[in-house]
Amino acid sequence: MPTHVITGAGSGIGAAVARRLHARGDDLVLHARSAGRAKELAADFPGARTLVGDLADPDRLSWALSHQSLPDRVDSLLHIAGVVDLGEVGELTPKTWRHQLDVNLLAPAELTRHFLPQLRASRGHVVFVNSGAGLNARAQWGAYAASKHGLKALADSLREEEHAGGVRVTSVYPGRTAGPMQAKVHQQESKDYDAGRWIDPESVATTVLMALDLPRDAEVNDLTVRPGPGTGR
Ligand SMILES: NC(=O)c1ccc[n+]([C@@H]2O[C@H](COP(=O)([O-])OP(=O)(O)OC[C@H]3O[C@@H](n4cnc5c(N)ncnc54)[C@H](OP(=O)(O)O)[C@@H]3O)[C@@H](O)[C@H]2O)c1
Repeated sequence: MPTHVITGAGSGIGAAVARRLHARGDDLVLHARSAGRAKELAADFPGARTLVGDLADPDRLSWALSHQSLPDRVDSLLHIAGVVDLGEVGELTPKTWRHQLDVNLLAPAELTRHFLPQLRASRGHVVFVNSGAGLNARAQWGAYAASKHGLKALADSLREEEHAGGVRVTSVYPGRTAGPMQAKVHQQESKDYDAGRWIDPESVATTVLMALDLPRDAEVNDLTVRPGPGTGR
C-alpha cells in the first residue's frame, strides 16, 4: 500500500483527501500542529500514524521531526494545510504577513526538503494545494496571494529539479471551497456565508486523487478548479 504524508488532514479539503485514502486502505502519516491534535487525528483515522510540528514555526520543524520516528517509505507528500488573513497592504502588519508566509510557503518548503530522500527513493509525488490566489492577486488578498504565488514558484522549481529523478509535482488551484477557511473569509469580507454556493471539499479531493492515481506516463502539473456553473464565482 502506498504511504501518504498529509498536512491539514484535520479539516476541510485535507480531511476529505485523508478520508478517501483511508477508506481505500492506503497508509497515512498525518501531520498535526500539536500532540493533542495528533491524538484526535489518530482517533478519527484508525491505523494512521501521526507527526507533530507547528507549521507556523518552520525554523523548528526539522528539530521537531528529528525527535519522532519518520516513515521509511513516502510515496506522496500532500501539502494541504493553510491559513488566510485578508487585509489591504496599507493595513497588513509584518506579523500577519509572516504567519501566512510561514504556514503556506516556508513550512511546505521545509517539509519537502525533509521528505525528499524518501520521495526520490519511491519515485513519489508531491502535491501542493495552492489557490486561485496563487495565480491572481486581488485587493485584500495581498499576503495570502503572495504566499500562494510563492508556493507556485516552489512547486515549479521542484518539478524541474526532481523530474529526471522521477518525482512528480502537482499544484492544484481551487477556487472558493466550503469549510471553516471560507467561513472565516466571509466574516472578514462582512458577507453572509452559504456553504452551498462554493466547491464541496470532496470535489477538490477528487482532483487530488486523480492527479495521484494518474499512471506514471503522465503528470498533472497544474490543475485549476473553479466553482461550477450556478454556484458562486
Ligand atoms: N477553502 C477555500 O476556499 C480554499 C480555496 C483555495 C485554496 N484553499 C487552500 O486549500 C487548503 C485547505 O483549505 P481548507 O479550506 O481545507 O482549510 P481549513 O478547513 O481551514 O483547514 C486548514 C488545515 O490547516 C491546518 N493548519 C493551519 N495552521 C496550521 C499550523 N500552524 N500547523 C499545522 N497545521 C495547520 C489546520 O489544522 P487544524 O485542523 O489543527 O486547525 C487545518 O487542518 C489551504 O492550503 C488553503 O489555502 C482553500
